[in-house]
Amino acid sequence: MRTLVILFATFLFAAAAAAQSDLTNAIPEHNPRTSAADVAAGRETFHSHCSPCHGYNGEGGIGANLAAGYFYHGSTDDDLYRNITQGIPGTEMPGLFYNGDRVWQIVAFIRSLHQPDVKPPGDAARGAAVYKSSGCAGCHRVNGAGGSLGPDLSDVGGFRSAAYLKESVLTPDASVPRKYWIASFDDASGQHVRGFVQNEDTYTIQIVDLKMQLHSYDKSSLKNFRIEKKSAMPSYSGRLTDEQVQDLVAYLWTLRPSETLSSEKLR
Ligand code: HEC
Ligand code: HEC
Repeated sequence: MRTLVILFATFLFAAAAAAQSDLTNAIPEHNPRTSAADVAAGRETFHSHCSPCHGYNGEGGIGANLAAGYFYHGSTDDDLYRNITQGIPGTEMPGLFYNGDRVWQIVAFIRSLHQPDVKPPGDAARGAAVYKSSGCAGCHRVNGAGGSLGPDLSDVGGFRSAAYLKESVLTPDASVPRKYWIASFDDASGQHVRGFVQNEDTYTIQIVDLKMQLHSYDKSSLKNFRIEKKSAMPSYSGRLTDEQVQDLVAYLWTLRPSETLSSEKLR
């Protein structure tokens, strides 16, 4: 009997190991589907399944800019394949259960989008000064310095288009990632609270308020609970001149991993 159990356990282990190596070996390193017909098929899938979040030509929206040629979560063919099929945990990027060829065709289409990343108009040095004087650093971190209510902007130019950056500054409510939706309610003492949902289970909910303080509440004690899909960031429309906005976008565009920013692009 004991031998049988051991045998069976060994069999299970071998099966698990085989399944594991199947998973890791199954993804070829390079895209096997790159013909013009593959790109066209990939475009079709992309427009129906990915454009709502990534924009018609991959320029970005709720999802990342896929046309810049730089990918925050990995830039090799197999990185793209993995991110598309498995999704990116903790974000709105879903995993997609397509078969291999269909995914590779999407990868071929994404590769075809890459345009040389042209520096937007505007003066980045003046934009850095606008960033400083507008209080952006109160909520955003760049290279370790600044507040943390909003996303870290250290690499934002690498995965957001200039158009998206401009929209972020002028109409922050246009696309707010789920993580930044605002929960609003009255607590047990009747005090009104607004903040981001950090975590929740059946009975409790943890909220980071807009002063970045973490609080835990019994769900049953909350009144008037609702989720606002609005940004905690104020709009700068009307508060900055067109020229200041252009300079600010030029500055944000330079914030990216250094290997994607060659000095000639800055000229
Ligand atoms: C519901 C919205 C949504 C849909 C639909 C969606 N994505 Fe995404 N995707 C995202 C978000 C959000 C991110 C950025 C995650 C992060 O880093 O915060 C992302 C990231 C990615 C990345 C990684 C980008 C990088 O810089 O590394 C790739 C590649 C990608 N998506 C491809 C696709 C493809 C291809 C499809 C369609 C088959 C798709 N996505 C559908 C929301 C979406
Ligand atoms: C009161 C806090 C606050 C201030 C001040 C603020 N932001 Fe934001 N910002 C946020 C929050 C929260 C988000 C995330 C929600 C959203 O997308 O609007 C955000 C999002 C962004 C994004 C989008 C990032 C991405 O990857 O999607 C950019 C770009 C940005 N802010 C730039 C700026 C700039 C430039 C300034 C100054 C002119 C500024 N912010 C001032 C809180 C702030």
